[in-house]
Amino acid sequence: MSDKYAVIGNPIAHSKSPLIHEAFAKQTGQKISYERILAPLDGFEVTLESLVTQGYKGVNVTVPFKLEAYELCQTHTGRAFVAGASNTLIFNGGHIAGDNTDGAGLVNDIEKNLEVCLQGKQILLLGAGGAAQGVLQPLLEAQPKVITVANRNVDKAHLMLKRLAIKQATCGISVLSFEALTQQYDVIINATSAGLTETALPIANGIFSNNSLAYDMMYGRETPFMQQARENGAQVADGLGMLVEQAAEAFYIWRGVRPETQPVIAMLRAL
Ligand code: ATR
Repeated sequence: MSDKYAVIGNPIAHSKSPLIHEAFAKQTGQKISYERILAPLDGFEVTLESLVTQGYKGVNVTVPFKLEAYELCQTHTGRAFVAGASNTLIFNGGHIAGDNTDGAGLVNDIEKNLEVCLQGKQILLLGAGGAAQGVLQPLLEAQPKVITVANRNVDKAHLMLKRLAIKQATCGISVLSFEALTQQYDVIINATSAGLTETALPIANGIFSNNSLAYDMMYGRETPFMQQARENGAQVADGLGMLVEQAAEAFYIWRGVRPETQPVIAMLRAL
């Protein structure tokens, strides 16, 4: 009998998670099944309870349920707490524990796959929504010199840092508006959803240089942010590697085995 896992979202048909976890399972010889589950927008809790009852071992949670998932967990890891959102749940009997592997996925993709070390670097994080919140704590743990957060709604960015203040911040961390950004950054991460509507962010070309990495957490398209960064000489990456790395972190939490991610990233790029 295989242990059962799933990803829950709405919509969910597009999710690559089953493909990724099936590849991990094959590679590591783990016996698991992994399926897509569409939960009604007002029916996440019922769906979750039903999976617990059916003996599933855990689930990934995607848009729009990550916040609700967090609220329904009985315990949380520190990184889930800072994110206020959970994308990886572990079922143990009736107990549901919540983790968040998005930030670890981002940091692993940047440091391991793109070979850019974050320690001592100046990082600019664009956005203060769920996606930005999910990656902030792991970014801090990578010990950069500075993290600047910029968001259209500056108050929201301040609120995000307030939540983080419970943890010890070891680097300089500040908030600016997009328009106030003038200096160059080593790593610029776009965690806004502006790319979904092909909207360019009002950021100066001067924040990019030949030595910067511009990382868009979205994948599957060249966003205006990526175009701007490319035109200004930066190395550019999309979020496909992060998608696979966050899945690998979830797989490790569930199975205690760390899969190799490079072949799976290559497989998805080839599709
Ligand atoms: P997600 O979970 O994808 O982060 P979210 O919580 O709705 O979604 O957050 C979306 C983020 O993208 C926010 O930082 C939002 O900025 P505001 O907080 O000011 O709303 C940002 N965003 C979305 N569309 C944008 C746009 N056209 N220009 C700039 N920022 C945008």
